[in-house]
Amino acid sequence: MPYEELIKKAIKAKQYAYAPYSGFPVGAALLTEEGKVYTGCNIECASYGATNCAERTAIFKAVSEGERNIEAIAVVSSSDDYTYPCGICRQVIMEFGNKIKIIAARSEHDYKVHVIDDLLPDSFSSEDLKKTGGGYKDGI
Ligand code: THU
Repeated sequence: MPYEELIKKAIKAKQYAYAPYSGFPVGAALLTEEGKVYTGCNIECASYGATNCAERTAIFKAVSEGERNIEAIAVVSSSDDYTYPCGICRQVIMEFGNKIKIIAARSEHDYKVHVIDDLLPDSFSSEDLKKTGGGYKDGI
């Protein structure tokens, strides 16, 4: 799927943002390696820390429906500037692959593409846990 189309889906998802506290609606659209799309918006909460970003909403929707092979995630907000995933979202994105593309878009015609590895260098991962005997168990 062309990135322009994915960005359009992120723009559409932004309309569902629940952002009464920040007034900063965000939309995300996740593309799987098989070509399926999962969208997400930010969902805020009066207990601010319970807020969920658009990117994680999209990832949690995908993973909870059995999709872990993520190719790219497009992110849009109402800001005039590009919006990049926050630190927590970068960590969650990285959990599913260090080559996932992040498409930070101002519109479907104006976007920047990055690889998550470049946005979260020297990241902590299951590899670190393996070094102490803990870590990743396949199939769970
Ligand atoms: N937010 C996202 O949903 N994604 C980002 O990439 C940046 C921040 C949300 C969280 C919160 O609802 C609002 O934007 C302001 O931080």
